[in-house]
Formats: sequence, structure tokens, C-alpha cells
Amino acid sequence: MLKAIKYIGAMSKGKTRPQLFECDDGNQYVVKFMSNPISPNADKHLVHEIIANRLAQLLGLPAAKGQIIYFSKEIIENTPEINEFQVKPGPHFGTIFYKNKTRPTKKERIKKCSNLQEMAGVMVFDHWVHNRDRSNNLWNLIIDEGEHENKLYMIDHAGCFYSTRRSRKKLRSGADSIRIHWGKNYDQFRPFLTDKLPFMKYVKKIEQLADSEIREIVFSTPTEWEPDPNELEGIYEYLTTRKSFIREITEKLMEDKLKIRSSTFLKNFLKDLFP
Ligand SMILES: Nc1ncnc2c1ncn2[C@@H]1O[C@H](COP(=O)(O)OP(=O)(O)O)[C@@H](O)[C@H]1O
Ligand SMILES: [Mg+2]
Repeated sequence: MLKAIKYIGAMSKGKTRPQLFECDDGNQYVVKFMSNPISPNADKHLVHEIIANRLAQLLGLPAAKGQIIYFSKEIIENTPEINEFQVKPGPHFGTIFYKNKTRPTKKERIKKCSNLQEMAGVMVFDHWVHNRDRSNNLWNLIIDEGEHENKLYMIDHAGCFYSTRRSRKKLRSGADSIRIHWGKNYDQFRPFLTDKLPFMKYVKKIEQLADSEIREIVFSTPTEWEPDPNELEGIYEYLTTRKSFIREITEKLMEDKLKIRSSTFLKNFLKDLFP
């Protein structure tokens, strides 16, 4: 397991007050701590972070790579800057740090992203895992600015699975919901997402995920963050149930928000034309 070895500093944004650390692989990570007084629902949030991050990686989506990061007693004691978090030795969560990150604003900056079409997959994914904290939040998607090209990265999956309201019961009652999330962040990408193919590429990828792959990811969550297997069972059921709705949700998203003709729309249109 990756280990934190050196404190770098605090991130300037974020309600949970993430902290930057260097780890023993030589990279810097933006770290969120498990149970701490600054972020009362941290454990629940870390469960969502690790599961969503691993699912996104499996689907080939541009999530800033997430890792479980081990904090020893020594690093905690040697870092007075984090005293207020009352950090306990054990596993915490971090994503690889992009130091040239900016917000996903300005047409030119967005256009320069070499993985711009992957944003279609980000939207599909957010609907699958019920992440309502990106569509309208310009801080939960970053653009890593480069000299020749930029790249989009997904961060912050704390809000997935109904965020702090997550329970097996809540997930069961919401699993068949096809409500669309939209907001000013997604809206920035509307001019660039005019084709249904990139959306359908991710719909197919989700549909083709084996239940066993999903189960393995969900149940590899550290028990320090979620000791109740019943809760993990709820997340697993939610994801597998929603797999069967993801096509319908995406068609609604494309029709209602992006005005892209879905196959159903086209089929009906052709039927009207050539009865
Ligand atoms: N991997 C990363 N690389 C660069 N900046 C990051 C990264 N992760 C988070 N940040 C920055 O830190 C802020 C807070 O992180 P976030 O995960 O959104 O925490 P919170 O749950 O508190 O909103 C982000 O808005 C972003 O500016
Ligand atoms: Mg955030």
C-alpha cells in the first residue's frame, strides 16, 4: 500500500479541506482523511470516492487516479499542520495531484482538451452512480493545462450514491430513477457534444461490465471506512440495477439537454416518414 511520507500543504478549495502529501512512489496526492472532526461524514464519503474512482478507471474514464494511502503514527506525529484533523493511523484516500489544474471554463481552454469527448462518458457515469455534485459544480472537474494540449480530469466523488443520505434502503428506492442532472458545469460542454457515439460508447461499456467486476470493486473498500457489509451490498445492488437503465437515462439526457437525436427518436421519426 502507498505510504504518505511528507506534508506539502493545504489545498485552497474544498469543504473537506484536502491536504497535499508526497507519497513513497515519488508523487504528490491530494488527501482526504477518514473519520475526522472537520468533515463529519468523511468515512461515508471515502467509500464513495474509492468505489467511483475504481469504476471510472475500469471504464477508461479520466478520473484523477485515486489510491488508498497509509498514514503511519510517525508521519501524523511529525506533521503538526494536520493536528486539527485528529488523523488516525491507517488508510486514507488520495488522488494524484495535477499542479497545472484550472477550472473547466472558457471555450478555448475546453477546446484544447485532447480528451474532450470523454466528457460524454463523465455525464453518463455521473448518472449511473448518482453523482449530483458535478453537473453544476465547476470545482469537481479539472483541466490540467499543458503547452500543447489540455486534459480533463474527474475529481471528488464524495457526493455519489446519495452522499451522506446513502443507506441500503435509500439506494433501493432510488435505483430505477431516470432523473437527469444538469447545471452550469455540464452546460460549458454542450457546444462540443453533438454526437451520440461518445455517449453510447460508455453506455455499452457500463452494460458490458460483469456483476462480478462491480462486486469486487465495491467489496474491496477498506473496512475502516465501511464496516457494514450490508451497506456495501446496497451499493452493489444499486449499481447492477442501474446498469439496465443506463441506456434509457442517456437517451433522455441526449434528447432533453443536448438535443441529440437518440435511436428511439430517429426510429419514430423514420416510422412517421415511411409508415
Ligand atoms: N487531484 C487533484 N489535482 C489538483 N487539484 C485537486 C485535486 N483534487 C482536488 N483538487 C483541488 O482541491 C479542491 C477540493 O477537492 P475536492 O475533492 O473537490 O474536495 P471537497 O470534497 O472538499 O469538495 C478541488 O476543487 C480542486 O481545486
Ligand atoms: Mg469538491
